[in-house]
Amino acid sequence: MPAPRILILGATGGLGRALHRHFSSSHQTVSWGRAELNLERPETIARRLEAQSFDILLNAAGMTNPDACEMQPEKARLANAAGPQVIAECCHARGMRLIHFSTDYVFSGEPHDVWKEDDETKPVNLYGCTKRDGELAVLQASPNALVARVSWLFGPDKPSHPDNVIQRTLQTNDLTAVDDKVSVPTSTADICDWIERIIHGHPETSGVLHMCNTGSASWHSWAEAALKVAEGLGLPVKTTQVKPIKLAELTQLKAPRPLMTVMSNERLQNLLGIEIRHWSKALEEYLVEKHRQK
Ligand SMILES: NC(=O)c1ccc[n+]([C@@H]2O[C@H](COP(=O)([O-])OP(=O)(O)OC[C@H]3O[C@@H](n4cnc5c(N)ncnc54)[C@H](OP(=O)(O)O)[C@@H]3O)[C@@H](O)[C@H]2O)c1
Repeated sequence: MPAPRILILGATGGLGRALHRHFSSSHQTVSWGRAELNLERPETIARRLEAQSFDILLNAAGMTNPDACEMQPEKARLANAAGPQVIAECCHARGMRLIHFSTDYVFSGEPHDVWKEDDETKPVNLYGCTKRDGELAVLQASPNALVARVSWLFGPDKPSHPDNVIQRTLQTNDLTAVDDKVSVPTSTADICDWIERIIHGHPETSGVLHMCNTGSASWHSWAEAALKVAEGLGLPVKTTQVKPIKLAELTQLKAPRPLMTVMSNERLQNLLGIEIRHWSKALEEYLVEKHRQK
């Protein structure tokens, strides 16, 4: 059977770039950015999609900055909910598979055991609300779509927290990071691998699926883990110690942030029949690869 043709949305984003690199060597892959399909203009989406042949659509596009969403709620609603709804309707009408990416920020962040797929969603900011509305709209329009919730992405295509922390400690040893907000750092390379396994081995998977590495971290412990790897690689970091602070001290944030959004990846592990590695292993591999190239 020929490999499915893949259409990726979010071509200029961290996850979209990773998906494109991963799939374009082995699959017929087309990637679109905002210029090719603007989610803020839902009325244009059906026509754009009808003109393109594909078997599977991976939607990694969205308005992802919580503070920007808070300040521009209508844009957030269009990009994260109304646009994805039209995409799901089009995919459903043509019998195409849709994998739509969502977020751990759909959860309230209240003290909780790890969050499972069917736990109640109760977002605390507009980003989370619009993403939650997007999940519901996608699954209503296309019940066999897959909503893949991811968290705290890192990878080679877009600098994220560990890259920023390492960069800063090359200049200063005075660094702070929040230690009372926890989630699961997750490798974009690992997500690409899981998506490929699903497409080929479990193509009928639908509903909500948590796609994250194993373990949990705060922004503080994630930062220190990155610095220890950097030190081990011989990078001239000025410290591996980060001063812990509380989320409430970040008074410049426009959008409230949920505190505890660690997701369970049990459904993913059972589905794929593999042991999913701890985020720290994936982080180490990523940083070794990145800094070895220099
Ligand atoms: N990064 C994380 O830590 C994280 C955590 C949890 C969940 N997620 C989810 O994972 C997915 C991918 O995130 P990411 O980190 O790769 O995001 P990202 O780097 O911010 O990329 C977002 C992509 O969406 C595009 N986009 C934004 N608004 C658009 C619009 N109106 N029309 C068309 N395209 C638009 C962006 O295009 P432009 O470059 O033109 O803006 C970019 O290509 C998202 O669903 C996000 O909610 C990410």
